[in-house]
Amino acid sequence: MDGMRRRTLLAAIGGTVAAGGATEATAATATPARATAGTAGGDMARQARPAADRPGPHERQIRELLGRMTVEEKLGQLQQLTWNGETGPGGGQDEAAQRDARAGRLGSVLNLYGAARTNALQRLAVEESRLGIPLLFGLDVIHGFWTTFPIPLAQAASFDPAVAARDAEVASAEARSNGVHWTFAPMMDVTHEPRWGRIAESAGEDPYLAERFAAAKVAGHQGRPDGSDLPDPRHIAACAKHFVAYGGAEGGRDYNTVDVSEARLRNLYLPPFKAAVAAGVATVMASFNTINGVPAHANAHTLTDVLKTAWDFPGFVVSDWAGIREMTVHGHAADAADAARQALTAGVDMEMASTTLRDHGARLLAAGEIAGDRLDDAVTRVLRIKHLLGLFDRPYVDEDAASTAPSRQARAAAREMAGRTLVLLKNERQTLPLRRDTASIAVVGPFGDSTDLQGTWAGPGGTKFPATTVLAGITAAVPAARISHVRGVAADGTDTSGIAAATAAARAAAVTVVVVGEPSAISGEAASRSDLRLPGVQAQLVRAVAETGKPFVVVLIGGRPLVVAEWLRAAPAVVMAWHPGIEGGHAIADVLFGAVNPAGRLPASFPRAVGQLPIHYNHENTGRPYDPDNKYTSKYLDLADGPQFPFGHGLSYTTFEIGAPRLSTDRISADDLRAGRGVDVTVTVRNTGGRPGDEVVQLYLRDPVASVVQPVRRLRGFARVALRPAESRPVRFRLGAADVGFWTNDSAGRFVVEKGDIEVYVGADSTASGKALLRIT
Ligand code: NOJ
Repeated sequence: MDGMRRRTLLAAIGGTVAAGGATEATAATATPARATAGTAGGDMARQARPAADRPGPHERQIRELLGRMTVEEKLGQLQQLTWNGETGPGGGQDEAAQRDARAGRLGSVLNLYGAARTNALQRLAVEESRLGIPLLFGLDVIHGFWTTFPIPLAQAASFDPAVAARDAEVASAEARSNGVHWTFAPMMDVTHEPRWGRIAESAGEDPYLAERFAAAKVAGHQGRPDGSDLPDPRHIAACAKHFVAYGGAEGGRDYNTVDVSEARLRNLYLPPFKAAVAAGVATVMASFNTINGVPAHANAHTLTDVLKTAWDFPGFVVSDWAGIREMTVHGHAADAADAARQALTAGVDMEMASTTLRDHGARLLAAGEIAGDRLDDAVTRVLRIKHLLGLFDRPYVDEDAASTAPSRQARAAAREMAGRTLVLLKNERQTLPLRRDTASIAVVGPFGDSTDLQGTWAGPGGTKFPATTVLAGITAAVPAARISHVRGVAADGTDTSGIAAATAAARAAAVTVVVVGEPSAISGEAASRSDLRLPGVQAQLVRAVAETGKPFVVVLIGGRPLVVAEWLRAAPAVVMAWHPGIEGGHAIADVLFGAVNPAGRLPASFPRAVGQLPIHYNHENTGRPYDPDNKYTSKYLDLADGPQFPFGHGLSYTTFEIGAPRLSTDRISADDLRAGRGVDVTVTVRNTGGRPGDEVVQLYLRDPVASVVQPVRRLRGFARVALRPAESRPVRFRLGAADVGFWTNDSAGRFVVEKGDIEVYVGADSTASGKALLRIT
């Protein structure tokens, strides 16, 4: 949609980047400047724009400082150590961090927060080291610091990027006041793998949706794209991760191999990163996977050719946790020194947790195995972000101003945003919303009275400030009702002895709310599953409640699309509530009783069975697409075709009508598109039911004849529109070259707009049938 050129972080230092994908086409040429001797994996030492060429407000100071630094001090700026590192492999490096901060041999620390604690360590670097260069404190602030918002996948389900921006704004202010300068977010890995636990951290299966959410979250964290808000105490630097194609992990097993064509890399995985760079993202994190046999940490093609050269990214690239050292295990580096050489040469600028560069950098430099220019460029990039954050002027935080708990406004925002993320999957006979005058309600299931609603990366607030439970939310929503609670079964395990008590409670109540799903711990990093059904005997609980014959609804808690086939038919109404965060219980009650009319839409398809994965909507066609009457077509013999619920699906308590799409012109030339002209697509959306509500109008494209086969549908626009009963509104989308074109398999990066027809679909989910034809001449 967005062919507009935006001011970015680059603008602060001279230059612009095109947002939206298409207009970079001609800029995407690799510059393989020279091959290094003895390179492993055929990589080459590429050159991004030399640091000295870049104009900008801090470049002179940086050059001057660089001129005074020893090699050890330079290497120190590229080192990040972890504080109290029980959260990951490698152990705490507290003592080393203090020693190195004093010695001016440390650039950054992760996992340390708290105004007094960060100030104390900062003092060692600023007041005791020779050059007084401030430290950069980083933390995973993924969906909240004190105030836990819904997980990112849930946020994407809102189809409202303002939800991600709001989360980032609240979290940034809380984090910065506690000494945190930098978050390792947003994660923007597009994935077709719900088995992969990290889908919970992502925006799901679509690159355009991920693009929009990535840009919104970067803006929420950093403020204006030119970086001018970064010194402000309400903002922190963001990190686009994981670069790149991490979501393609084989079998959904975390950290796994990715073998991907250039076209798919550029059309599917790279767009959100490009949008983040256009939004001015300060840093990028390399991913744990290999890309076509070369670990992302040694991948000069992605890190230097694409990110630093074609996109002219001025910030720095941080490794993932020990990702450099682990290249020896990958089978790509002979030893730690070789790993350090490859990573720096390919374009990694800062090393997280492992210490290969610090340990071997000086010797590598003396031996000519790493280039002095590259070292200086990496240091320059790190210092540039420290300057943009204002750390040289204000290295400390005000200890009296530190936020210590979620504020009332932050909680209100978390509740409102969570309400926007819930997806009504099914609602027969208007079972929902429940009447507020319901006399008696049974709340059953392992998540009915559980605080485990926070999700995978709940941050420091996750344990300190537990979530409101569903039981508490319902009790607050309908205080006059008689409410009983029986857990019935545990979230996992085989014990069914509590089911009888749960069904007794259901029989005694006017309606039952069954709250089942996944604990937070089984989605996120290192939390892949081979079975996506409800864990343990929870499905038996749902079926037993159904057998009572009494009305009931199911609330699903989880960090990924789940397989619901074994009980879905028995359940009259189902709400996908994800891991909704600190105000989860209230947000769920808001939807159950109709205070909020649900309008979330699925950001990833719900499969019928694990055996059909991957089952994403944006797949390519075969020469023999599914035909139930023809055996020799693409399908499973033992499973119905397609997903259980498609991408974009979600119901409402009201009904909507979306009219046929109208085009401002049904022909446009490829030249006109390339010159920045576009085509408007307009539809009218109308609330045809009896309640106010939001419809998410979705626009999909299909290019039926292309030199590189294109997906059967691609999301290229959406609008969440609030409508009163009988109200109608026109919704207009603008299609440009970025929308109708695609990247080819040319490794230098070629974006093409080809002649021919484009099918334009507008409707309420990815199966939309309202269609118009656009001819590109
Ligand atoms: C490893 C994870 O892959 C990454 O997402 C995270 O930011 C780092 N650890 C730091 O905690």
